[in-house]
Amino acid sequence: MRRVIFNQKGGVGKSTITCNLAAISAVEGKKTLVIDLDIQSNSTQYLLGEKFEDPDKTIANFFKSCLGLGLFGGGKETLDDVIHETPFPNLYVIPAHPDLEGLQSRLDSRYKIFKLREALERLEGFDHIYIDTPPILNFYSQSALIAAEKCLIPFDCDTFARNALYTNTASSG
Ligand SMILES: Nc1ncnc2c1ncn2[C@@H]1O[C@H](COP(=O)(O)OP(=O)(O)OP(=O)(O)O)[C@@H](O)[C@H]1O
Ligand SMILES: [Mg+2]
Repeated sequence: MRRVIFNQKGGVGKSTITCNLAAISAVEGKKTLVIDLDIQSNSTQYLLGEKFEDPDKTIANFFKSCLGLGLFGGGKETLDDVIHETPFPNLYVIPAHPDLEGLQSRLDSRYKIFKLREALERLEGFDHIYIDTPPILNFYSQSALIAAEKCLIPFDCDTFARNALYTNTASSG
């Protein structure tokens, strides 16, 4: 099952919920993957600490390969190469990276919005996948909404957060 956690409102607990639901899934013995699509890298830091080995293995490298750039160029476009083990059994993560920012307009203009979904459909071995998103409807959050089978929208019980809920619904169709 692929789940995205999304709300355009910031600070409503997206990353916290992503990591906690993934941790519960892993503790229950399910092989679980977290994909961090937010340049803030909060889920990455929760699961791997401030620094992680091999920062060339991130979701940015996957998207670079979609553009024919980077380490995994040549149209390989697989997620297997960018998955990190976490210190927790059954729990894996694909980290975010600051390069996501610069890649976004090129990915958008070259219609790469379905690439994440296609790659996740090819990815084998995971029982549950949780995708953390940035607090904005951009290329990455739209890619995640297209790629996921279920969407969780955390929100605060205040007016602005409630308004964002309606905007999410309108903009994601
Ligand atoms: N259930 C909760 N109860 C109390 N505090 C919480 C809860 N969930 C998250 N928080 C706190 O709220 C803050 C924001 O949480 P988090 O970073 O998960 O939000 P976010 O939606 O991912 O933010 P952003 O939009 O910036 O990515 C954090 O300081 C976190 O510790
Ligand atoms: Mg977050």
